Amino acid sequence: MEAYKVQQHKYDVIVVGAGGAGLRATFGLAEKGLKAACITKVFPTRSHTVAAQGGISAALGNMGEDDWRFHFYDTIKGSDWLGDQDAIEYMCREAIPAIIELEHYGVPFSRTEEGKIYQRPFGGMTTHYGQGTAQRTCAAADRTGHAILHTLYQQALAHDATFFIEYFAIDLIFEEGRCVGVLALDMNEGTLHLFRGHAVVMATGGYGRAYFSATSAHTCTGDGGGMVLRAGLPLQDMEFVQFHPTGIYGAGCLITEGVRGEGGYLTNSEGERFMERYAPNAKDLASRDVVSRAMTIEIREGRGVGPNKDHIHLNLMHLGPEVINERLPGIAESARIFAGVDVTKEPIPVLPTVHYNMGGIPTNYHGEVVTKRDDDPDSVVPGLFAIGEAACVSVHGANRLGSNSLLDLVVFGRAVANRCAEVIKPGLPHKDLPANALDEVLGRFDALRHANGSRPTSQIRAEMQKTMQNDAAVFRTGETLKDGSKKISEVFTQFKDVKVADRSLVWNSDLIETLELSNLLAQAVATMHSAEQRPESRGAHAREDFPERDDHEWQKHTLVWIDAEGNSRFDFRPVHMYTLTDDVEVVPPKKRVY
Ligand code: FUM
Repeated sequence: MEAYKVQQHKYDVIVVGAGGAGLRATFGLAEKGLKAACITKVFPTRSHTVAAQGGISAALGNMGEDDWRFHFYDTIKGSDWLGDQDAIEYMCREAIPAIIELEHYGVPFSRTEEGKIYQRPFGGMTTHYGQGTAQRTCAAADRTGHAILHTLYQQALAHDATFFIEYFAIDLIFEEGRCVGVLALDMNEGTLHLFRGHAVVMATGGYGRAYFSATSAHTCTGDGGGMVLRAGLPLQDMEFVQFHPTGIYGAGCLITEGVRGEGGYLTNSEGERFMERYAPNAKDLASRDVVSRAMTIEIREGRGVGPNKDHIHLNLMHLGPEVINERLPGIAESARIFAGVDVTKEPIPVLPTVHYNMGGIPTNYHGEVVTKRDDDPDSVVPGLFAIGEAACVSVHGANRLGSNSLLDLVVFGRAVANRCAEVIKPGLPHKDLPANALDEVLGRFDALRHANGSRPTSQIRAEMQKTMQNDAAVFRTGETLKDGSKKISEVFTQFKDVKVADRSLVWNSDLIETLELSNLLAQAVATMHSAEQRPESRGAHAREDFPERDDHEWQKHTLVWIDAEGNSRFDFRPVHMYTLTDDVEVVPPKKRVY
């Protein structure tokens, strides 16, 4: 192996990723007097949070009655009783101060006539425990993620946080069971850097690009999950992958649920508003898993639209140009560019599209990474934190409600900063590492850089994406999952034969895509194998051979470990069926209807 020169940087805390969660954590740490560095593979304002459209939930009650306890109930029901109720209580209660804080930081929210933050209805968000429709989703037109991300970056700059931009995180470094840093490549200079921290916070986003068609950016390659698996730690609930009902047919770009929140609706080839049959109360504003399944059934039964009857129409013409221009300008533009549609005159062709990973790195509500050790299901991994889509807190359980993701980012980004300030003394020295501490991670890096097999990265990636798209889809069966597990394991094995053509270290996109593929592949295997071992239907995991939810056997979190050969090992953690305070009561499982 080449002798690599590695520059060392010492901070109190290292944050990996500069999306909403990473930025909120970074400036929160700086605000609390900790020396924090944020390393990010893209310029912060290009992080995938920028693409979030419809809004961020909080029971502010600006546009009708609301209560954070209603939000708590809706989130538990949305999760199909796989969410941890202590963490859900924390998130829904903290939502209110978190949004007011965002407003004070300068997020340009849309406004009501009285000047309050504008809030729209979103799927599964109700008042009075399922009785009424809540207007809970705070919006900046349909560019809420853009507005929040830019504001958070401005705050980070104002707090003098240090950024290492266009640095690709390669692997975590552990010493005696404690995470002590992360090795990264400066893609611009082609130099290697070891970032030492008393805590490392993974804010690396989801792994949507394991699929062929996803609303996620091409950068969503689950780098944090890949690093955690290689460190011998498990991921949680990987079988739960959310399909957003309204991705643009063909292009896969997101068309916000806010369209339906503003009064838009879906129709089939007969012009029927079919959601009335599947969710008589909530209709088009049922939760995403329910709507995606309904659309898939309509298409399967021959009522899809278009020459191939393979998609559905989203109608918003009746809203009129004024409402569209004021509240939904971004999707009007996307529909014009990617579907050639004038939304004031024609419906948008849409199809359920991979959008969000409910599974990820298991954490408690402080953002501390947990694993199961010696029968302790909540054993904290020293020095390691995870937040945002990379994490599984678990507040979303088996299905996330729209607009709870931006909320999760800011609430748990802030929680991590608070926790680090409690447990880390600023300026604490770092112990020297043994001379061979980096050998293993540098060895793997060097091997991939010089990989000289016969399969280009793009070819293996295409195989993975096709397999995931076909076999870990909206509906699953034992047969498709068995077949999918076999195929995805074969694709994992093909990676041993990968070819990297460019050997340089400066802007070597071939190498970076290969490192990203290795992260994606481990999580693709984790997803398919986890789905195969769960014989029930819950939230986004819809098994046609096991159509019912089985709380007796399966109300538990899946933990999956993937070894270097792509073998999976499983264990389970109990769902937290307790709350943090007496302000709210545990919601026991019941039938989930909308
Ligand atoms: O539909 C949307 O605007 C997406 C929101 C979300 O995923 O939370």
